[in-house]
Amino acid sequence: MDHFLYRDGQLGSENGPVSLSAQDVGTPVYIYSKATLLTHYQRIADAFAPLNPLLCYSIKSCGNVNLVRLLVNAGSGMDVTSGGELYRALKAGCDPQKIFFAGVGKTDKEITEALTASRGGEFQHSAFSIQNSSGIGWFNIESEEEFWNLDKIAGKLGKTPNAALRVNPDIENKSQTHAKTFTGKKETKFGVDIDRAAAFYRAAAKAQHARLNALHLHIGSPIKITAPYVDAITKGLALIDELAADGILINTLDIGGGFAAFYEGTEAPSAADYAAAIVPLLQSRAAAGLKIILEPGRSISANAGILLSTVQYTKQGGAKKFIIADAAMNDLIRPTLYESYHFIWPAAAATPPNRTSTLRTDNDEKVDVVGPICESGDYLAKDRYLPPTHRGDLLAIFSAGAYGMAMASNYNARPRAAEVLVDGDSYTLIRKRETYEDLLRGE
Ligand code: LLP
Repeated sequence: MDHFLYRDGQLGSENGPVSLSAQDVGTPVYIYSKATLLTHYQRIADAFAPLNPLLCYSIKSCGNVNLVRLLVNAGSGMDVTSGGELYRALKAGCDPQKIFFAGVGKTDKEITEALTASRGGEFQHSAFSIQNSSGIGWFNIESEEEFWNLDKIAGKLGKTPNAALRVNPDIENKSQTHAKTFTGKKETKFGVDIDRAAAFYRAAAKAQHARLNALHLHIGSPIKITAPYVDAITKGLALIDELAADGILINTLDIGGGFAAFYEGTEAPSAADYAAAIVPLLQSRAAAGLKIILEPGRSISANAGILLSTVQYTKQGGAKKFIIADAAMNDLIRPTLYESYHFIWPAAAATPPNRTSTLRTDNDEKVDVVGPICESGDYLAKDRYLPPTHRGDLLAIFSAGAYGMAMASNYNARPRAAEVLVDGDSYTLIRKRETYEDLLRGE
């Protein structure tokens, strides 16, 4: 699952104790394991190898440029959803042609940047450099207006971009994904209804510049069972065949992201399980030339990171015991936003028998782990059984690599946490803790 393991009563990240980085860098701090990040990437790449796909890591899940660079060097492309994410991907050295730009509200500025992106990360401005920039691999199209706007801007710049229509396959939420992160049903803001898609492709075939030659599906996150992928891909392939009969060729199918990660231990299908359900649907198509793209985010980054926090105080409030940590909802908003579960355990403790939400051990105490922010929604765990915990103890909040730092804010004027990357027995500060001056920059 990850390389955050207890040895001799101490939590280690790869070959060193996590307390070392806490001493040097302070808390709260996100600690990432290089080995875990790359192992999870490689498992997906290996499992789907029969399709010879392009993996476009979903940079929104965890976008530190130093981590993204590791994935780029492992061969990954990038799924981006804003000009800022595009900039990060390019700065990490990603080949623009391996970038897929999703999102319902791309501005003219962002579209122009993506059309003129080139390796190395600067957007192009002179006529010469615009002409010689490759631009990104694909634009994800989420509405008719967006497609025609892309066509217009591409025309002005003399570009002929590839575009994928994001189709909303209108499938049931069989995996009970949180309502805020399920996207595969009609009447979410994403994509175009599947019953309107064929007409959309036919109209777009008349475009002068943009080429609508790809299909994109992303049904939500996390999808903890394989059936919704089978449902969505089956509908997508039927659409591709219907279009082929009309002479409209779809050469690329992006099946999106959403593979689950391990928060409790065994709840997610493995990469091999997902592949066992998906590869047979696509193998003959891929062999016949259909390019397959995947956009995994969480399944690569979630288990690669923990959030380390120091207990400030403990107190009793009615029947409740509170552990007041120095990490808060501004550092990790998932528990309060989605009622998400993150396993929490002291960094100096015996190895926890497992990471499940029902874990009980000798002498444990029922507690709420909360932060210092002025909201009762500021919690990291509720009604959790922890070993006796005291002021000064370090607490590890596990499986926090995805949508942790990526969703952090400065609420309550809290400087955002530092980030550390562990590689074997060495560790590197990959993002400084913000300072008070950082908070006021630009004001
Ligand atoms: N592709 C598209 C178009 C997406 O919108 C997303 C995630 C992904 C790929 C990657 O999904 P993943 O493989 O990471 O599941 N903040 C929420 C998750 C929001 C997901 C947004 N889109 C959370 O913390 O659970």
